[in-house]
Amino acid sequence: ERGRRLVIVANRVPNPRERAASAGGLAVALQEALAEREALWFGWSGQIAEATSTRPRLARHGRLTYATLDLGEGDFRRYYQGFANASLWPMLHYRLGIAQFDREDYAGYRAVNAAFAAALAPLLRPDDTVWVHDFHLFPLGAELRRAGGAAARRRIGFFLHVPFPPRSVFCALPRTEELLADLAAYDVIGVQTEEDAAHLREALTRGGHPEAARRVGAWAAGIDAKGFAAMAERAARGPEAARLRASLVRRALVIGVDRLDYTKGLPHRFTGYGRLLAGFEGRHLSAVTYLQFAPVSRAEVAQYQALRRELDELTGRINGQYAEFDWVPLRYITRAVARTTLAGFMRIARVGLVTPLRDGMNLVAKEYVAAQDPEDPGVLVLSRFAGAAGDLEGALVVNPLDPDAIAEALDRALSMPAAERIARWRQMMDAVTTHDATAWSRGFLAALEGGAALAEPGG
Ligand code: G6P
Repeated sequence: ERGRRLVIVANRVPNPRERAASAGGLAVALQEALAEREALWFGWSGQIAEATSTRPRLARHGRLTYATLDLGEGDFRRYYQGFANASLWPMLHYRLGIAQFDREDYAGYRAVNAAFAAALAPLLRPDDTVWVHDFHLFPLGAELRRAGGAAARRRIGFFLHVPFPPRSVFCALPRTEELLADLAAYDVIGVQTEEDAAHLREALTRGGHPEAARRVGAWAAGIDAKGFAAMAERAARGPEAARLRASLVRRALVIGVDRLDYTKGLPHRFTGYGRLLAGFEGRHLSAVTYLQFAPVSRAEVAQYQALRRELDELTGRINGQYAEFDWVPLRYITRAVARTTLAGFMRIARVGLVTPLRDGMNLVAKEYVAAQDPEDPGVLVLSRFAGAAGDLEGALVVNPLDPDAIAEALDRALSMPAAERIARWRQMMDAVTTHDATAWSRGFLAALEGGAALAEPGG
């Protein structure tokens, strides 16, 4: 199937000029698949215009072509901020309590998916393999099929990067029965874990699409483990790492790296860290520094603004309460930082703290593992509700809703003997290397293009 062109459709399209330095998760994960064959990457330009464009802007980079559309302001509000990020995102992360629903947002979401399909269809060749990504684009495959002609027979696959919740949660959001019908239009529907797959199969079966339930599979997303390890090793010898080390004055470093998102469990995590400082006979006071990167994300959505205020306050309170004149216990940074810098800092950190309340996979957990020095690795404290927990048995697994459990795990991690750290790390590095980005994309594409274990598309 190597001769077939691969068409990637995702809301985000990597900026070709920044490709090497700051490429996001998906761009890194697809590196190998994209290197092997001709490819087209279609999606939003990241720009907001007066109206959504109908003709994509094309940019060629070797065998990879980017095709992007600007979003009109109203479409951006209804599709991206509205239905995708204020309705679907919280619901898919089990947070019905903060999920909103607005019929206009939903109509905007459908309209943008239809507009994407209409703009993409003329660029497609009959034997393309089309791979659609994430919750922004549930309806895209069905819209492409409606375009008819060769498009109707093309292999079209979908991968959901975020969790798929139990059917009762999914179906609580209005109109999601339509999204199940949309999913049924794909030849292969991929999710991160077997738990997600079981939820999705049940939703499809009970939603009247039993044949589509047979086309669901789980493929755990991964990273380029060797590449990340090499990057961390290099960066840990660089000037920024030297500055960080000097600033620590031999204190142990705890690191967190997350988008500023309420699914990441940051308030619970900060509270847990506060309990670490308050308890344990004071032995962590002035002995540890916690560095949290939380680049601002989706800042126009109300829930994200509320979270930012909460974290500003919590940070101030913890530092006000425990700081000394020469020690700040919590360093909190909301600016975006280069991946290489983060990789080097992860290698310096004695503990990686990854405690989302719900997460599809969480690649930061895998990056922290890959970044470690094999002779003197750090400890991963990981939420049981991250997809990655299924794979990383060597982590100290915690319930992220329990700040005391976070404090206890931190205490244990900070005093763990080297032999135990090494044994735990080896198991995890093994898993991260085996289930890497290449295994993920190959596994999914083999199912989509080979179709071996999966039934023929129904209808
Ligand atoms: C998650 C989603 C991605 C999304 C990313 C960044 O990882 O699964 O689809 O691209 O967050 O969020 P943003 O809204 O900035 O694209």
